[in-house]
Amino acid sequence: MTTNLERLRVALKSVEVSAFAVTSMPSVRWLTGFTGSFAIALVTLDQALLVTDSRYTLQAAEQCTSMPCRSYANPTNVVDFLKEQLDALFVHRLAFDKNHVTVATHESWSEKFTGIELQSATDPIDELRKVKSPEEVAKVQAACAITDTCLEELIRRMRPGVTEIQLLWALEDMLRSHGATAAFAPIIVSGPRTARPHGEPSTRELQRGDFVTMDIGARLDGYCSDITRTVAIGSASPRQKEVYQHLLHAQETCIQSIRPGLSSKALDGLARQILDEKGLAKHFGHGLGHGLGALVHDSGRLSQLVDEEIAVGQIWTIEPGVYIEGEFGLRIEDDVLVTETGCQVLTKFPKHLIEVPW
Ligand code: GLY
Ligand code: MN
Repeated sequence: MTTNLERLRVALKSVEVSAFAVTSMPSVRWLTGFTGSFAIALVTLDQALLVTDSRYTLQAAEQCTSMPCRSYANPTNVVDFLKEQLDALFVHRLAFDKNHVTVATHESWSEKFTGIELQSATDPIDELRKVKSPEEVAKVQAACAITDTCLEELIRRMRPGVTEIQLLWALEDMLRSHGATAAFAPIIVSGPRTARPHGEPSTRELQRGDFVTMDIGARLDGYCSDITRTVAIGSASPRQKEVYQHLLHAQETCIQSIRPGLSSKALDGLARQILDEKGLAKHFGHGLGHGLGALVHDSGRLSQLVDEEIAVGQIWTIEPGVYIEGEFGLRIEDDVLVTETGCQVLTKFPKHLIEVPW
């Protein structure tokens, strides 16, 4: 079986890079198995080394079996230590992830890495990470199962007097009780506040006639879920029902249409076209979805701004929304794994309009 290190080297050769510094922690983890908060993997076409600091000497040795690990300790500084390692690896040209290395880091590397040319590049692992292994899919599925359960419990807790922020606290407790953490700051908004796609939970009490949008994610064993459901408090109005059904139609059509070879832009366009049938596209400001994995926003966007081919083994969110200022907003989001013939939906929570008895 090809290892992730071998896959990275093939990618490096194809872009004529002879040495790469892997700096983003999801990429370091994918490459080495190391789960700590800081490490840099130096990878050449025939050697590799994981550099970390003394907080992680023992952990790195235990978790990273694909390459030697070296750590530095006070008073050595990281840039001097990296330079020593790069010299030992005979690196004269080092590519780095321009989306991750800060200007300050680049300045200090430029100053200290004498005799080494720095080469701005994108991290090839971001692209490799888009296609998930069966083990990675199983981890995302486990995270999805947790958020499915949390949604059910959150709806049970919707009673007169309950506030958005109380639901948030309850959710955090639920996630912990499943051994997970929040994959991102949960969005729980009600009434007119649902018109804020990423509203922060407030002290507003839920009221009859509200829509309530819950956008929640679990991180378990390094992998994320991301699901959104909108429910009505009491009976939904005819207008709420109409917009909900149309948004659901757009979301389900996109799920039925996603397949390998389709362009990310075309799928996003499909959602916009359907919403436009009822004049709702102008209320849909964000993209249709994003890649999901070790990060809640992993590489890849379903958007008018990105035109890339969707491929087997990728995991995407499909999350159209409609946000009408002064009235209400709603979003429906699922996580899907692209298969040879279409997709498998990993999030299982029902999608009919739930009217919470009040
Ligand atoms: N669930 C939050 C987001 O996709 O941005
Ligand atoms: Mn999302």
